[in-house]
Amino acid sequence: MRLAVNIDHIATLRNARGEQEPDPVAAALLAEKCGAAGIVCHLREDRRHIKDLDLARLRSAVTTKLDLEMAMTAELQEIALITRPELITLVPEKREELTTEGGFNITAHYSELAEFLKPLKAAGIEISIFIEPDKKAIDLAAEAGADIVELHTGSYAQKAEEEEIALELQKIRGAARYAKSLGLRVVAGHGLNYQNIAPFKEISEIEEVSIGHAIIARAVLTGLDEAVREMLRIIQ
Ligand code: PXP
Repeated sequence: MRLAVNIDHIATLRNARGEQEPDPVAAALLAEKCGAAGIVCHLREDRRHIKDLDLARLRSAVTTKLDLEMAMTAELQEIALITRPELITLVPEKREELTTEGGFNITAHYSELAEFLKPLKAAGIEISIFIEPDKKAIDLAAEAGADIVELHTGSYAQKAEEEEIALELQKIRGAARYAKSLGLRVVAGHGLNYQNIAPFKEISEIEEVSIGHAIIARAVLTGLDEAVREMLRIIQ
């Protein structure tokens, strides 16, 4: 299974001080150097983390695969056509949400979807749609011309009871199998972390996971050790 690393929160941290550091491009290069198969960023309408310049710099720097998560808007369609990431992932977007909540409502948007995707596909950009592990959503994604479905693992990640966790995994496993049987490639993401990732190794249809928060949060604490020591070496 491959790992795609979402570096949005590096930009969140940078933006907290309005300065240049930490640089999401430096983070992307480091993630690639350590074996990440792709770099994911979400250019949100409010630009709360990744900004347009970050996206342009990421495009120039990333050599594995750049996955632009984006809402289904004309503005983002145009940006994707100019930026040419290898892949776009269509996600729902509400201004007030803390992070992407739930999968893209493909039923509600189906009538405009194929038209929206057409120029992106013509430009050679692969299309992934972030959906709930649901048969109907998978059918519509395939019909609309998606290459990949990203199964939303947020419900799985939020469950605490063993039985509920098993039930969510069952849904994800079934959805992955079904999507694959329709010729779609399957990836998964949202809320995955060091504690809950292991069962995904057994779902052979899922070729990649997309992880952001857990990795950046872990990096802050594992990196703090060296950061403190380095400052002490300088001042002592
Ligand atoms: N996949 C999608 C489509 C997302 O929107 C996000 C969050 O930006 C992720 C994966 C990564 O989720 P997390 O930050 O919880 O690992």
